[in-house]
Amino acid sequence: MEKIILDCDPGHDDAIAILLAAASPAIELLGITTVSGNHDVDHTTRNALATCAVYGIEVPVARGASRPVVADQVLAIEIHGETGLDGPVLPPATFDLDERHAVDLIVDTVMSHEPGTVTLVPVGPFTNIALAARKEPRIVDRVKGVVCMGGALTRGNITPAAEFNVYADPHAADIVLRADWEVTMFGLDLTHQAQATPELQERVRAVGGPVSTFVLDIWDFIDTTHGGLLQLAHPAIHDACCVAALIDPTIFATEKADVRVEVAGRWTTGMTVCNFERMGGMRHFGGTARDQVDFRHTVATEIDHDRFCDLIVDSVQRLTAGLG
Ligand code: RIB
Ligand code: CA
Repeated sequence: MEKIILDCDPGHDDAIAILLAAASPAIELLGITTVSGNHDVDHTTRNALATCAVYGIEVPVARGASRPVVADQVLAIEIHGETGLDGPVLPPATFDLDERHAVDLIVDTVMSHEPGTVTLVPVGPFTNIALAARKEPRIVDRVKGVVCMGGALTRGNITPAAEFNVYADPHAADIVLRADWEVTMFGLDLTHQAQATPELQERVRAVGGPVSTFVLDIWDFIDTTHGGLLQLAHPAIHDACCVAALIDPTIFATEKADVRVEVAGRWTTGMTVCNFERMGGMRHFGGTARDQVDFRHTVATEIDHDRFCDLIVDSVQRLTAGLG
């Protein structure tokens, strides 16, 4: 059983990450924390509660950072719409928000569980995770790991160099990637392989019911906004890859890497610079001892799309049957 805190900015693909976490018997969802990113934190928090209502789950949900650590705020309303989760019907919350700030929920949860048992899963800008590590540095050694959606090995999606989650708060990403915990990164080169193909959508449609309708309405909307962007044929289910990997790591191929974040590039702010261990030769980034290479992080490189789709269909079936 993987115990996780899902830190997110719902957000269409965030809602699919919540789906997998809520449905899987392999996941204990200890909490959901929200952050500004796809929309402001008021909208992402409301959307997280609405998503829980659709799935029929109740877990601690705590509102988090309303803006990046240093950078000016960047939102992705052009992609996710005026609500931040346009497309599906968004029901009212069925339970109250946790009274704590997201950072306090993260710190309290990690410090109250056995060392090495809780995984942090940021799938929006990493602001809350960075602030939690600053507020209580002991969580860095205590967590099992950090599994994040963010970054890219080659091209970005908000600038040619940067992926949105890292670009929206590059300083938070820098804090998270430089901390001593191990980060498993699901960047765009991987998540663009995780598309909601027509075949997958037909399998979800065949399940029927409100969860199926919610998921299909999510993909229909993204098809209208993503369509033509980024040369993606179908909606990329970015964030769900992180939870899928915690349910079944064998769905993905990974490599050890040293990953750095550019925080002050004229054209490259938010770029993740990945130096793979297999490359051997590039053992230095140059500069001081701090720049010596350290391949402690992991980067996901390939997905078994068929098994990923099976997981999504199974999740819709399980929540529809009330097994979440
Ligand atoms: O770049 C993709 C990421 O940005 C995803 O997490 C999506 O939800 C948006 O937050
Ligand atoms: Ca997200």
